[in-house]
Amino acid sequence: MSFTLAKRRRNEPAFYDYHPEPSRFREDVLSGLTGKQRQIPPKYFYDERGSRLFDAICQLPEYYPTRTEIKLLERYGAEMAQCMGEGSILVEFGSGSSLKIRLLLDALQPAAYLPIDISRKHLLNAARRLSHDYPMVAVHAICADYTCPLALPTCFISGAKTGFFPGSSIGNFEPLEALQFLKQVAALLGRGSGLLIGVDLKKEIALLNAAYNDSQGITAAFSLNLLQRINRELEADFDLSAFEHRAFYNTIKGRVEMHLVSCRRQIVTVSNQRFEFQAEETLHIENSYKYSIEEFQQLAKVAGFKPQRVWIDKESLFSVHYLYL
Ligand code: AVJ
Repeated sequence: MSFTLAKRRRNEPAFYDYHPEPSRFREDVLSGLTGKQRQIPPKYFYDERGSRLFDAICQLPEYYPTRTEIKLLERYGAEMAQCMGEGSILVEFGSGSSLKIRLLLDALQPAAYLPIDISRKHLLNAARRLSHDYPMVAVHAICADYTCPLALPTCFISGAKTGFFPGSSIGNFEPLEALQFLKQVAALLGRGSGLLIGVDLKKEIALLNAAYNDSQGITAAFSLNLLQRINRELEADFDLSAFEHRAFYNTIKGRVEMHLVSCRRQIVTVSNQRFEFQAEETLHIENSYKYSIEEFQQLAKVAGFKPQRVWIDKESLFSVHYLYL
C-alpha cells in the first residue's frame, strides 16, 4: 500500500501555473464587443466544457483533420522522431488531451515532456494520465496562453529542445500573427532545434464547410459554449437560443470563418455594459486558415525556419511539416 502511494507520487507531473488573469478575459470580451465587427479570440473556447466539446469535435466523421493527422503520425512517426532526435526537451504548444504525442514518445525518448495549455484542469488530467502511462518520461505541465510570449521554467532554458504543434492550431492566427508566433517559438526553442507542426491544407470547399458544420451540432455547441462561459464568468445575459452558429470558407482570405449570428435585434449586458445586436449581426469567434504546402513553407522561412520534410496523406487533406532552426 505505502509502496503504491510512493510510486504514484514519483509519477506525479510537475506543474507550473502561468495562467492569465481572469481580468484579461473580461477586457478582451468587452473590447471585442465594442468594435464594428464584434469578435472574441478563440482561445476563450477552452474552459472545461469547451475542451471536452473540442475532443468530441475531433471524433466527428466530418472533422477530417484529427484522424488524418493521427494516421500520418502512426505511419510516419518513426521518420518524424528521427528528424526530431532523441533525448531532447519536448515542448508541445496547446497540448489538450496529449493524445497525439503518445504516438511519438516511444521513439523520441525525450529528456522531459513540457505540455503547454490554457485549460488548467484538462491539462493536469492529461499530464497525470500521460505520466502514469509513460513512467519513464518526466512530465512538466505548464498552464499558459501560448499566444503570449512565454519563458520556460529556468531548468529547461539550456538544453536541446524540440517543438510539437499539431492539429493546425496555427490556423487560428492571422498570417502576420502566425509569423510572429513562429518567430517566438524559434526564440524559445533556440538554434539547432526543430518543430514538428501540423497544418491543414487548402481543399475542396464542400469538405471544409462540412468539417465545421457537423450534422450532430457539436461544433455549434462548442461555439455557443463561449457565450455560456461569458454568462457565467462575466455576469452576462446572452440568450443562447437567440444566436446561431455559422461557419463558411472564405476563398479570398483562405480561411474558414466561424460566427455567432444574432437571430433578432437584441440587447445583451456584459459586466454592466449594454451591447445592441441587430438581426443578422455577427460575433466573429474564430478563423481557421488553410495553407498550401508552399504557402506554409514560405511563412516558416520568413520566421527563420528551414523546411526539411513534409508528410501528406494520399488525399492531400492535411500536412505535417518538420522545420529546422
Ligand atoms: C483547434 C484551431 C485547429 O480550426 O479546426 C474546430 C478549432 N473550431 N472546429 C480548427 C475548431 C471548430 C480547430 N483548431
